[in-house]
Amino acid sequence: MPETLSITDNRTGKTYEVPIAEGAIRATDLKKITTGGEDQGLCTYDPAFMNTAACKSKITFIDGDKGILMYRGYPIEQLAEHSTYLETAYLILFGELPTKGQLDGWTHSIVMHTMVHENIKKFMEGFTYDAHPMGVFISTVGAMSTFYPDGKQIFNADSRQKQIHRLIAKTPTIAAYAYRHSIGRPYVYPDNDLSFTGNFLNMLFKMTEVKYQPNKALERALDVLFILHADHEQNCSTSAMRAIGSSNVDPFSALAGAAAALYGPLHGGANEAVLRMLKDIGSVDHIPAFIKKVKAGDGRLMGFGHRVYKSYDPRAKIIKRTAYEVFGVTGKNPLLDIALELERIALEDEYFVSRKLYPNVDFYSGLIYQAMGFPVEMFAVLFAIARTVGWVAQWEEMLLDPETKIARPKQLYEGATARDYVPMGGRSAY
Ligand code: CMC
Repeated sequence: MPETLSITDNRTGKTYEVPIAEGAIRATDLKKITTGGEDQGLCTYDPAFMNTAACKSKITFIDGDKGILMYRGYPIEQLAEHSTYLETAYLILFGELPTKGQLDGWTHSIVMHTMVHENIKKFMEGFTYDAHPMGVFISTVGAMSTFYPDGKQIFNADSRQKQIHRLIAKTPTIAAYAYRHSIGRPYVYPDNDLSFTGNFLNMLFKMTEVKYQPNKALERALDVLFILHADHEQNCSTSAMRAIGSSNVDPFSALAGAAAALYGPLHGGANEAVLRMLKDIGSVDHIPAFIKKVKAGDGRLMGFGHRVYKSYDPRAKIIKRTAYEVFGVTGKNPLLDIALELERIALEDEYFVSRKLYPNVDFYSGLIYQAMGFPVEMFAVLFAIARTVGWVAQWEEMLLDPETKIARPKQLYEGATARDYVPMGGRSAY
């Protein structure tokens, strides 16, 4: 069977043969389909990239119909069960699970980079006390490019590695400082004896005790949540990371842009929106009226639906289980009953069933974070810490791909045709 596509252009009667590789045709192959003259050839129109692959990647595989998610071929369920965030980060970055020696070296290297320059602390003090921590996070990550100008050497492999280590190690420190700043508590320096997530909890919650001891169950739950959020192929923020990085800017600037994309309520801001939604619903009795409103097009059921998953998000299943483990320590989040009933009703409702809308990763994660003591404003920041490894892995893959060029989509111009400048006196209000 030939791996080609025959296209007949009914405007000209000409037939073209276009190669198919990996289930795709190259959009640039369509350029040869022209009507002649000034016609620059056919292109595809795909707002929101609904059916366009913009890169090749070896990092993350998703089958949205079957609810499968794998990092480098390893199912997310197995990683959540057996791995740690730092081990998974190594896997995502380097393609293989580390040996004991490799993991020790990698962990040591991350630990060595957890501190931030004292001026970063001072810089963060300039934000008002009620500044949203995600805004603080985005700005501070962007500012890191001024502290580490060697980050501009993006085609130097050693420099790239150094910036990647810095980003993975320092984002929790920045996130914790953003949180402490918002509640007026002094910043806590990293404790490098603790695990990645244990140290993060230390920087967030340490008070006057000499040594902070994280609760093991909560430390593990946060590690699992970080594993689940570590990468998710070409989502909005990762696409932003790749697009910004394709201009050859330093990774700190590119990552600030990716984090900004994550901030939106349709992406990483969704778990904050879920909590606000559950609070607004207020009680199980109010759910039918809320669902009716959503179905009438007045708002969305936040934490439901996904561009890729048309079945239960595999991450949501693991998170739901983790929620019960966390509630065993913290006590049940009172919003859980509303969430469970909302899910039950939505999964039986024709509107949601016919549109294949299922709970996504954000539906239950906020309940866990809240039970652990995080304010809702921190939720997207937690997502950003975990996704940092995905962003930098995809950034490096993009840089090393010989097919990479600066990202620059086409447009279909529908504006005015050429016309002469009109002096002020000749204009009328429109
Ligand atoms: N509640 C109610 N209706 C919905 C929802 C929802 N959460 N999501 C989609 N729909 C409807 C939508 O109105 C449309 O209906 P119709 O065909 O009648 O116009 C249909 O389902 C398809 O929706 P879409 O907007 O074309 O789908 P999309 O692939 O562009 O959007 C999404 C995906 C995640 C942005 C969307 O499902 C959504 O807004 N969900 C709520 C926000 C959310 O939970 N985001 C987190 C996503 S997972 C983590 C992450 O990416 O960070």
